[in-house]
Amino acid sequence: MNTPVEGFSKRSKAEKIDWIAQHYTKDPEAAKRILEQYWNTDPKVQKLHDEFIENTISNYYLPFAVAPNFLINDTLYAIPMAIEESSVVAAASKAAKFWLGRGGFKTKILGTEKVGQVHFMYRGNIQTLHTFFEELKPELRKSVSDITGNMEKRGGGIKEIQLRDLNDQMEGYYQLHCTFETLDAMGANFINSCLEQFAKTLKDEAQKYEAFSEEDKNLEVVMSILSNYVPNCLVRAEVSCQVSQLDKDPVAAEEFASKFVQAVTIAKLEPYRAVTHNKGIMNGIDAVVLATGNDFRAVEAGVHAYAAKDGRYTSLTHAAVEGDTFKFWIEVPLALGTVGGLTTLHPLVKLALEILQNPSAKELMELVAVAGLAQNFAAVRSLVTTGIQKGHMKMHLLNMLNQLGATETEKQQLVEHFKYHVVTNASVKEALEKIQSQ
Ligand code: MEV
Repeated sequence: MNTPVEGFSKRSKAEKIDWIAQHYTKDPEAAKRILEQYWNTDPKVQKLHDEFIENTISNYYLPFAVAPNFLINDTLYAIPMAIEESSVVAAASKAAKFWLGRGGFKTKILGTEKVGQVHFMYRGNIQTLHTFFEELKPELRKSVSDITGNMEKRGGGIKEIQLRDLNDQMEGYYQLHCTFETLDAMGANFINSCLEQFAKTLKDEAQKYEAFSEEDKNLEVVMSILSNYVPNCLVRAEVSCQVSQLDKDPVAAEEFASKFVQAVTIAKLEPYRAVTHNKGIMNGIDAVVLATGNDFRAVEAGVHAYAAKDGRYTSLTHAAVEGDTFKFWIEVPLALGTVGGLTTLHPLVKLALEILQNPSAKELMELVAVAGLAQNFAAVRSLVTTGIQKGHMKMHLLNMLNQLGATETEKQQLVEHFKYHVVTNASVKEALEKIQSQ
């Protein structure tokens, strides 16, 4: 039985590796070899990665790929994606190529507002609190001028500070609900620093406020934190074409448009389907968010909350046939940054941003939304035509063959073979055994 460890974070990397391998693996030498295999050969780069987090013992690789041929607002992009799922990049590239000949993707920023809140408890007279708050507002802004100075020079900063009364949800519960413009930064540190100072100023000023009773003066700050729910940091991406452009065969084109709209309608109506539909969208969104060094957990949380904003979880994309025009679009909240965080630190992130022509945060929102829309188009297109497994299993074939220990020659032979045969676990195993027995 293993015992708890004291002061683990203070140990050297070698000691940490030794400890984990000895205590938690069957073959400590083999474990150490794997960990070492994934180190960067350049000690400077490795040190950078070591210092991103605590207790780093190796690096965890994901494939870094590009999906080319994305025509977005009349500019051609190759979109970097970091993801492990075999078919995602292939699907994105296919969708990009499809829309390349049909006018490409068009995007629009609908808002860039970020949110943060100071949650506090106050049990005194509400009108007195409102009067206090009106006097407090300029003090709040003044108290963060050191933090906001640079951001304001560039056109950003605090947009609004509201007092919100949430007594009906929990007795005595109020918020300072604040909105921010953080320009090209995701803004988490900026917002949290402002909020923590707001909380301090709120407490200090309450202490001095004469109209408050002794109890009111000790109003209690519970916490101060940004919100990852950013419904007003929103971007729209869309594609459209004549229905007849969807397929060479006019009947197939109409049938495809109609089935596609039905499939999206089902995702709007039915939460079980909506979750999987949106998961496909997030395949594209997360891969670009990760490749560009952004916080995919924040994006995931915010996007799914947005998908449920009207009280029921629903599709993030929409499709319609209007007259003879097929339209497909997405609206998603995306709080992203192209400065700060990992963007100037991680060499691959820097490169990903360079490949994207060093976008502003707004431009990155547009590119990421397009990746989500493209991914959804590819998935729904497969679902309403061939089914998903055909393409998916084809892309998964190399993983299966690697797992079965196939040689390079065997892999080549079988990739050729499965161009004309259905890929399943059983059929791949059987075909490999057949080659090996010959
Ligand atoms: C698989 O990662 C994603 C899909 O299930 C999405 C969808 O069903 O729309 C193919």
